[in-house]
Amino acid sequence: MQRTKYCGEVRTTDIGSRMTLTGWVFRRRDHGGLIFIDLRDRSGLMQIVFSPEVGAAAHEKAHAIRSEFVLAVSGQVRKRPEGTENRNLPTGEVELYVDSLEILNVASPLPFPMEEAAETSEQLRLKYRFLDLRRPEMQHNLMVRHKTAKVVRDYLDDLGFLEIETPMLTKSTPEGARDYLVPSRVNPGQFFALPQSPQLFKQILMVAGMERYFQIVKCFRDEDLRADRQPEFTQIDVEMSFVQPDDVIAMTEGMLQLIFKKVLDVDVTVPFERLTYADAMERYGNDKPDLRFGLELADMADLAKESSFKVFLDVLAAGGRVKALRAPGMAGISRKEVDILTTEAQSYGAKGLAWIKVKDGFESPIAKFFPEQVMRKMAERVGAENGDMILFVADSGRVVNDVLSRLRLDLGKRLDLIKPGYRFAWVYDFPLLEWDDEEGRFVAMHHPFTAPADTDIERLMQIAEADFAEEDCARRYRDVFGSFRAKAYDVVLNGYEIGGGSVRIHRKDLQRRMFGMLGISDEQASTKFGFLLDALDFGAPPHGGIALGLDRLTMLMVGAPSIRDVIAFPKTQKALCLMSGAPSNVDPKQIRELSLRLVDM
Ligand code: AMO
Ligand code: AMP
Repeated sequence: MQRTKYCGEVRTTDIGSRMTLTGWVFRRRDHGGLIFIDLRDRSGLMQIVFSPEVGAAAHEKAHAIRSEFVLAVSGQVRKRPEGTENRNLPTGEVELYVDSLEILNVASPLPFPMEEAAETSEQLRLKYRFLDLRRPEMQHNLMVRHKTAKVVRDYLDDLGFLEIETPMLTKSTPEGARDYLVPSRVNPGQFFALPQSPQLFKQILMVAGMERYFQIVKCFRDEDLRADRQPEFTQIDVEMSFVQPDDVIAMTEGMLQLIFKKVLDVDVTVPFERLTYADAMERYGNDKPDLRFGLELADMADLAKESSFKVFLDVLAAGGRVKALRAPGMAGISRKEVDILTTEAQSYGAKGLAWIKVKDGFESPIAKFFPEQVMRKMAERVGAENGDMILFVADSGRVVNDVLSRLRLDLGKRLDLIKPGYRFAWVYDFPLLEWDDEEGRFVAMHHPFTAPADTDIERLMQIAEADFAEEDCARRYRDVFGSFRAKAYDVVLNGYEIGGGSVRIHRKDLQRRMFGMLGISDEQASTKFGFLLDALDFGAPPHGGIALGLDRLTMLMVGAPSIRDVIAFPKTQKALCLMSGAPSNVDPKQIRELSLRLVDM
């Protein structure tokens, strides 16, 4: 039986006509006399009815039907009787009276009821992903993802970008997350790495005169996984020649605007708000601020100095910081709730959480250390009014920002302050380098191919060439290097970093100095990045680009809590595929062929 229509497309205009539908059994109600089934395909649900009067044989056969059986049914479309319509379904005014039934396939009893899948453990959903993906929510997610990718391709094609593939078996390059390695059979002892991003290849495509490149591409990073991080994920990767940051930013804004319009029919205003990295850290405590609500952090160092509270004074004397956050309407919370809040702050790394309740005056165990006048100024600074609470963290700048930014997000959710909608922003003016205490050297904040700001390039080029060869170069110039800014930009949506990019270094002398600042010797640079340095030698144009995380973008578009919900076959926190069972042991012969030997674990 060939289907005439999709289930979700039957309307009142079809009343009286005959049709054939195919699909899966979603719900089934056997009233003995009449049997009702919600038949489901990708387009939606349609109620079909088996009646002994209309199709005796079909009705007889229909008793055997169970959830997720695959059916082909033919019959006549009728108007549902008065009072039995379902206003929530586009097909809710009609039903199909079946006179001919073909059971195309049967299904075993389900591991979880389809209707309760949302409450089912994710483990089970991932093991039976083929069932999970049948659910309308999941089908919607994958459709949104598909449409997004389609809009991206059309948009970039219109702007003259070429989609060019880059290798998946490539060279391990340091300075990023941990690589996924693939042993080479024909070159014993040697390994490919799966790309963490096509960064170097896309730059080389610019040297190759491609002018405008893009690729919707898988990237692989062996890092700690979270709700917004997968070991393999997808980037919308873009690179352009002869551009400044504003060109890449405008291209990206246009792309996101078109995606939201075409896929969600949501109007996004461009240009997006821009914040410097310093501003974002100061006001929100992180570089991906959720701007859908206020509660900005406030610096309290000057006022804390007017107190006699030793905790604050000691931290400040040691070069740390004291910052505060307003907790609206929370002056009434109990002692126990305060303790919970403190434990929460401690779990984020704080040593403690100091607080003052504004309650017709000030109430706090530490109030005795603060002149009334100072507490009034503190309240004013965070905008606390009667009924609010002020939360303080004192520690190193890093810990203070980290803890308060997380408490801010918790409060935003808990107090329902987050306005619905999409708030985009650019964060720019990042530091070029970050000092890594563990490694005792600088690491690139974005990546080692990111150009410094123009004025910093001048400062960098003034340093004597010979100094870069010195062992202690980075330590000697720590303050200078630490003050350099990058021509990098991140695009943030509702508190998530959905993309990041930069203008690149296109001069070999500058790239070598960059490696020098990172403590990468000339020799190391040429073994690891030789092909890039070679390319920079032969007329590399100025270029820059960006990569957007397609998974994160889609997750936010559909309002899913995790990128796993917008990836057909994702991995768990432990990087396992519960459906296929990957990773798995392999035949010892395969290991031998690769010239590998497993050490006993
Ligand atoms: P970056 O490392 O910032 O930049 O990655 C770009 C974007 O990819 C997404 N992303 C991830 N999504 C899911 N799981 C992950 N593990 C993951 N890691 C990153 C984020 C991020 O903003 N080559 C540069 C880009 C450039 O400079 O052009 C790069 O890869 O949304
Ligand atoms: P203590 O003097 O240790 O009893 O702390 C008094 C109050 O200050 C308690 O509410 C602690 O939680 C809080 N506190 C302690 N250390 C810090 C800190 N580093 N930052 C903010 N508050 C703190």
